[in-house]
Amino acid sequence: VISKLFQRRLLVVAGKGGVGKTTVACALALEAARAGKRTVLAEVDGSGRAAALLGLDPVPIGEVRPVRPNLHVMAVDGKAALEEYLAIIIPIRRLLDAVFSSRIYQYFVAAAPGLKELMTIGKIWYEAERVDEATDARRWDLVILDAPATGHSVQYLRMPRAAHDAFGGGLVARETQRVIDLLTDHKQTAINLVTTAEEMPVNETIEMYRQLCGELRLPAGYLFVNRVHRVDFGDADVERLALALATTREADDRNVLEEIVRRGREECGWSAINARYRQRLAAEIDLPAVEIPYVFAEEFGVEQVREIAAGLVAVDVAPGAQRRAR
Ligand SMILES: Nc1ncnc2c1ncn2[C@@H]1O[C@H](COP(=O)(O)OP(=O)(O)O)[C@@H](O)[C@H]1O
Ligand SMILES: [Mg+2]
Repeated sequence: VISKLFQRRLLVVAGKGGVGKTTVACALALEAARAGKRTVLAEVDGSGRAAALLGLDPVPIGEVRPVRPNLHVMAVDGKAALEEYLAIIIPIRRLLDAVFSSRIYQYFVAAAPGLKELMTIGKIWYEAERVDEATDARRWDLVILDAPATGHSVQYLRMPRAAHDAFGGGLVARETQRVIDLLTDHKQTAINLVTTAEEMPVNETIEMYRQLCGELRLPAGYLFVNRVHRVDFGDADVERLALALATTREADDRNVLEEIVRRGREECGWSAINARYRQRLAAEIDLPAVEIPYVFAEEFGVEQVREIAAGLVAVDVAPGAQRRAR
């Protein structure tokens, strides 16, 4: 799978809030770096969650920080990106300061719809295309974008086209066209979807998939089905234990059995829900899918992300086929 994904240059990781986007983006970044790709993991919501999941301190906004061999982390903020961009096109410091401190500018940034989203995507594009002056070669092999929650990430992905169409010609149209060229090129870009196999996230994922194929016309990559529960026992097994519980007198034994029965029922329940929604995903979304198991941990952190990353390399899926990580 993943090695195929790593042949592209821009991987967007999108999905509903809380399903595991940052986790998957981090796992992909670890694997890409390990595979020798010079990788940048870009986080846009400024929460510092990606850095935290990699066991790092938060990265200052705008800075591309090396964190381990081949891996860099970057925090992107629309307003900071706009200022950086303006500094490139207005090289006179005094003039630039005047612009930034003007009330009109502050008002413009706050009020212009989609401007921050546009600048964020522009900054991602800039890093993806960035060339090292000394060697004249691309600085990064791969940029992985940990996108914000679904609705918002659609706004980000839609902005370059919207801005391009709004400005008939000139600078904005030219610049946004370059961003559109990268985003829409399936050889270079993949928009990956992350979901859990539950009703609400699945509905949102199907909706986003349709938008990718329809209005947005962007190249979809993989579907990551996260936090999947699978049990190799059934309701009948659990109910047999429940029967055994009924005839157990010893208090300690009862406590243990009770807990096992409770957890067993819960796992059976999740497993059934996940199975149902995995089917729905397979029926509605024609993308190669990778399942990531639910990883039990007292505190979810870098160890769990490493485990998930290691599972990702073990699978190789053809479009339409589904495999489990691990
Ligand atoms: N495979 C998994 N197994 C168990 N828990 C997970 C798994 N993936 C993610 N989580 C949990 O879900 C939480 C949210 O994940 P995160 O990647 O931050 O979601 P998002 O970026 O989509 O909001 C994580 O902090 C972690 O506790
Ligand atoms: Mg996140």
